[in-house]
Amino acid sequence: MEEPDSIPPEGIVMQMVMGAWVSSAISGITRLHIPDLLAEHGPCTAAQLVERSAAKLDAGALERALRACASLGLFSESAEGVFGLTPLSEVLTRRSPASVKGIAEMFGASWWKVWGGFAEAVETGASQATAQLGMEYWEYCNANPAELLAFGEAMKSNSHRSTLGLLAHCDFSGAQTVVDIAGGLGHLAVALLERYPNLRGVLLDLPTIAPLAKRHLDTVDAGVRERVEICGGDMFESVPPGDVYVMKHIIHDWDDARCIKLLNNCRASMIGSGRVICVDAVLPAMGDTTATPAKLLDLNMLVSFQGKERTRTQWEGLYAAAGMKIESVTPLQDNFGTSIIVGTLV
Ligand SMILES: C[S@@+](CC[C@H](N)C(=O)[O-])C[C@H]1O[C@@H](n2cnc3c(N)ncnc32)[C@H](O)[C@@H]1O
Repeated sequence: MEEPDSIPPEGIVMQMVMGAWVSSAISGITRLHIPDLLAEHGPCTAAQLVERSAAKLDAGALERALRACASLGLFSESAEGVFGLTPLSEVLTRRSPASVKGIAEMFGASWWKVWGGFAEAVETGASQATAQLGMEYWEYCNANPAELLAFGEAMKSNSHRSTLGLLAHCDFSGAQTVVDIAGGLGHLAVALLERYPNLRGVLLDLPTIAPLAKRHLDTVDAGVRERVEICGGDMFESVPPGDVYVMKHIIHDWDDARCIKLLNNCRASMIGSGRVICVDAVLPAMGDTTATPAKLLDLNMLVSFQGKERTRTQWEGLYAAAGMKIESVTPLQDNFGTSIIVGTLV
């Protein structure tokens, strides 16, 4: 007998399907900077937000969006139609130390378009970036400076907990030069150099992102900035010399052949018997149905890139193919179910 207040399967499935609307609504109000406006002005009606916004907004539509988001716990709502921040929308503001504003915005923009091709990705096994955006995602970023910056900001905004995890679990005190491969705006390299005053850092990313990384570095302490070298280049050609390599959310973007090439490039340029530290998901083995955001992130890698998330066995295979072994795997409590995977030379 069904419990009177239990949700039937079709209700549960519809809740899941409507997750797409939830995602789009959260992304949309964040792209319109509504949480930032509430942080700046305090609780407001939709009409007051319209007056205070630099964007042109429709008060009626905004009120409906805020009401729906309030029902999800994102805003407080009074009988007078005054909406305020809650802990959930606080992290959608620019000012929050744990802000996910940048990445929440991306979900409703180009990523939303690419996910429109999800069924085709399953039919073909191929990324849908070209079908939906006209070119592969990194080419699209290179051709669209606003997308490139938005992507860099998204990665930075999703890095808070994984960076804290890396600092808590990995010791860099014996290292001289850490190379942050495909390090985006350089947020991880900066965090490491802030913690270790004698460490030098090299930030490698595509030549188009290097000027954005430089602008980001200009905002950090000079004592850190002077120890970071920014290199614009292609990590599949070669990587700069260093005794520790860090790759955060990089391996999952690529197929096995590219990953092995990349790990081999690290081994070839490595000074001494260093480490290659990947910060990426490790999927549970097949048959383990544990819910983890990494299984959904794996679908994003399928639909948007030519990459995938990997099990421990698959990670071991990649490192072994590049003459390395995994020394440790440390799961972190971050947004994407990430682990720290430390590899050393065999
Ligand atoms: C998922 S983001 C990760 C950024 C950063 N590591 C982080 O976690 O915040 C992937 C990065 O790879 C960079 N990238 C893509 N292709 C590259 C290549 N061939 N050589 C160097 N960097 C590349 C992109 O520009 C982007 O910054």
